[in-house]
Formats: sequence, C-alpha cells, structure tokens
Amino acid sequence: MSDSLPPDLAAALAGSRARRGPLGDPLVYFAEVTSTNDIASARAERGAAEGTTIVAASQTAGRGRLGRAWHSPADAGLYVSIVFRDPNVAPYLTLAGGVAVAEGIRAATGLPLEIKWPNDVVTRSANGPARRRKLAGILAEASSSAEGLQYVILGFGINLKPAAYPPEIADRASSVEAELGRAVDSAAILVEVLAALASEMPALSKSDPRSLLTRWRALAPLASGSAVECDGPGGRITGIAAGVAEDGALLVRVGGRVERIVAGEVIWR
Ligand code: BTN
Repeated sequence: MSDSLPPDLAAALAGSRARRGPLGDPLVYFAEVTSTNDIASARAERGAAEGTTIVAASQTAGRGRLGRAWHSPADAGLYVSIVFRDPNVAPYLTLAGGVAVAEGIRAATGLPLEIKWPNDVVTRSANGPARRRKLAGILAEASSSAEGLQYVILGFGINLKPAAYPPEIADRASSVEAELGRAVDSAAILVEVLAALASEMPALSKSDPRSLLTRWRALAPLASGSAVECDGPGGRITGIAAGVAEDGALLVRVGGRVERIVAGEVIWR
C-alpha cells in the first residue's frame, strides 16, 4: 500500500505538470520500501505506463551499481524510480539520468555539480578528481523478453542531508545540504530533475542524442583529458580519457589506440 503524498510534493507536482511531460504521472509515494527500483519494476510488470514514478522516504535494500548497497536512511535523501518503455530512449537513459540529476539539483538550489563517468553526480573541486565527493547516483535496470525490450527502470538517489555514511564511502560522499550549508526544498529538486529529464525525451525518442551529449560533456570535464585507470576489454589499463561515445562508452587513449569502456569502476587520477 502506498502512502499519501506529502503536501509540499503534491503542490510542486501540480505546479510543474506542463514541464514534466509524462514523468511523475502517476507519482506513487511510500514512507519505506525495499528498493524503489523493485516497486517500479513490479508495477511495470503489471502494465504501468511510461512515466510512472515511485518515490520513497527511505529504502531498506537500496542498491547501486556493481552490486553495491545504496545507503538510504529516512528523510535524508530522494529515492526515485521511473518506468520507461520507449525502446529508442532506453540506450541513453543512464546518461540522461546523470544530466537530469545534476541539472535539476542546480536549477532548484544553485549548487554546481559535475558528472564522473558513467553517472556519479559529484561536487566540483579545483583540487583534482579525488577531492570530488559523490552526492547522487543513477541505476538503470532493463527487462527484455523474446519480443524485445519490455521496460527500463531509471532509479536515482540524491543525498539531501548529511548522514552517517558507511565507513567505506564516508570520505567520498556528501549531500546537497552539506555542500550548500543550508536546508533545501526536496520537492523542488524532484520536479526540476523530472523536468530536465522530460526536456530530453522528444529528441531521444527520435534516437537523436546530440543535445543530451552536449549537456553531458559540459557537465563532465573529467571525461576529456584526465588520467584514468580501469578495466578494458583485455585487462587493466591506464590511459587518458578521450570523451564519451554516442552510446555512452568512455573512450580511453592508451598509447596509440583508443579503448571503449562500457562498464566497471574507473579510477580518476
Ligand atoms: C550508484 O551510484 O551506484 C547508483 C545508485 C542508485 C540509487 C537509487 S536510489 C533509488 C533507486 N532504488 C535503488 O535501489 N537504487 C536506485
């Protein structure tokens, strides 16, 4: 059973309908879930329409990339999952999610952010990649059948308030409020993220990622020219990041050749 929408969220949704397209319509709110991706996926299996959005105040089994847990304490973050069905849009959802979260937080709060490939939303820092702290992440999970793609669940988690992060991430994590030194309006952040995501949909549904890639590149200066270490097709490589391909792969120059990195952990030097 879902819970009733907090009044500030209901008001923010009502005032942003035209900018959100189908996203957040319906928006189903829970005080606590295992993972919003699980709830969204169960609803998608039962036929939920594109744009159906699940929001929870806390997750007991929030998950991140590479099998990691996503720390999801009550009322300290935004935990959101959206159902997508358009197969043209699906290949770009991870990049689009990162751009929308970074742009949405900035639009609602003024906090400038960057993206670390593929989709970590991090603070800006003049002191090198290692000083950037992560405050949001994206997890896109697809379901396919013999007929092709059924749906993609785009989940994103945004740390809003300082929390007791697990020790292994404590020195690399931050929150929007910790960075700004003031309270923020979580409903405003959510609708700005949905609006930023919706603004890319018309082009992506025509399989045109040019505007998305321009926006992504502007937010990801590290992806061009930084020294990186990562797992390439033939084993561990060190090289220089050389941008992102149209399909979202990170390009890494190693000596005279360019490797395509499609998954895994990247260490930015
Ligand atoms: C990452 O950076 O590792 C991705 C984190 C994704 C977390 C969000 S929170 C909402 C949605 N539900 C989940 O269980 N995970 C995603």
